[in-house]
Amino acid sequence: MSAQIKIFDTTLRDGEQSPGCSMNLNEKIEMAKQLEKLKVDIIEAGFAIASPGDFESVRTIAETVHDVTVASLARAVKGDIDAAWEAVRVANKPRIHVFLATSPIHMQYKLQMTPDEVIARTAEMVKYAKHYCDDIEFSAEDATRSEKFFLSKVIETTIANGATTVNIPDTVGYATPDEMYNLMVHLRQTVKGIDNVDISTHNHNDLGLAVANSLAAIRGGATQIECTVNGIGERAGNAALEEIVMALKTRKDCYNADTKIDSTQIYRTSKLLTSVIGVRPAPTKPIVGRNAFAHESGVHQHGVLANKATYEIMTPEDIGIPSNAMVLGKHSGRHAFVERLKYLGIELPQEKTNEVFNKFKELADRKKIVSDRDIEALVGRNSITIDEKYKLKYFAVNSASEIGATATILLEWEGGSRKFAAIGDGMVEAAFSSIDDITGIYPELQSYEIQGVTGGIDAQGEVAVRLRVDDITVIGTGVSLDVIEASIRAYINGINKLIYEMEKRGIE
Ligand code: KIV
Ligand code: ZN
Repeated sequence: MSAQIKIFDTTLRDGEQSPGCSMNLNEKIEMAKQLEKLKVDIIEAGFAIASPGDFESVRTIAETVHDVTVASLARAVKGDIDAAWEAVRVANKPRIHVFLATSPIHMQYKLQMTPDEVIARTAEMVKYAKHYCDDIEFSAEDATRSEKFFLSKVIETTIANGATTVNIPDTVGYATPDEMYNLMVHLRQTVKGIDNVDISTHNHNDLGLAVANSLAAIRGGATQIECTVNGIGERAGNAALEEIVMALKTRKDCYNADTKIDSTQIYRTSKLLTSVIGVRPAPTKPIVGRNAFAHESGVHQHGVLANKATYEIMTPEDIGIPSNAMVLGKHSGRHAFVERLKYLGIELPQEKTNEVFNKFKELADRKKIVSDRDIEALVGRNSITIDEKYKLKYFAVNSASEIGATATILLEWEGGSRKFAAIGDGMVEAAFSSIDDITGIYPELQSYEIQGVTGGIDAQGEVAVRLRVDDITVIGTGVSLDVIEASIRAYINGINKLIYEMEKRGIE
């Protein structure tokens, strides 16, 4: 019989806490709904004590999803555990996730605790969490650099005090697959009660071994894997969910293990995350990278045409990349458009469907063939609703060598509108300056990225900007056939998100 592996998704906690990957509340909710469709077993929704915003998002996700366990992280202190419980208690299936470091270096320098104190604290805090909740996970932070018999003792203590999942993180991405396999076997052999709980692993990718270590852990007896969509996370990231799931599926002969994941939702989930954080996976990223299923060389193309299996070990359809290249154009009606959205697995509220359909019509007027990727780009962030204070009404830009550029922008908002002109070295700079003057918000532009949605001279440009005011960082995105318009839309989207975040925090 094959082993059943639980997938613990920490995109919204470990993934989100990495630089440039922050999400607002609505974005986290949309991601959580999509993770539920993907059929992950556990969503780690955040670290409730970290900030009021984190608390609110864990709580709202706990209220929103139904079929999936919702976990909040907590250090091994009462205040953290209280906050975690307050945030997840409304979930159908709540979990408190307590962690404490067990490696000599962490105990001595970070915690300033002796090994005996760590054991005592672990026992006390797991017991404390258990008085709230049945489902308790304990993580031995930096487990892979811990003394292995001490680790066994800690894990045994947590099980004796009520832990139902014990997690063995490779916090600094130091372990090798052989070591991970051996550690799992060691724990299975030395820890009393281990067969009654889930053994989990959580691997960081500093040496590019996170997925290999997760798979080795499964061979060694792990029953839960912690991972993130697109492998986002601290430093080099966490183990990538899609890679683990597809490795288990494609090499069932090797791992003899299943997950509950609906792999046809992988592409959509990856896309949604990309549009939310504005960080695209590398083109060569396995499973979800732009080139993951592209066959460039003539020899490969010839082979694939003769028989796909010559060079394809899995199909694009396995992860939900649409196969039927139905073409939409300016004569396509609303019905065909809605059917196409359905086919692409995109669900939008009625008013958003209308908005996106209008944008589709505008695009189809200017572009002969509207591809699935164009539609996905149009939908982009539209699946996520924030109140957009400023709307673009009009823009005009000019640029000439030697003289520089000028931009005039007209923005509208409820009850008002304002037009401003500004100059700059280039059109983008001039346009952004006039938006700053209109809104009175002068964010730091931390990054600006542009990419063609498809190939071809009539491709839409997709722009992502990262903007920062104080400690608030947001990603704004915009899509248009005109790259200057895409840039302006991305910047306004970012400004609207900054305003949303500032208002939530009571900043004028
Ligand atoms: O990397 C790590 O050790 C963690 C734990 C808190 C699980 O993220
Ligand atoms: Zn981690």
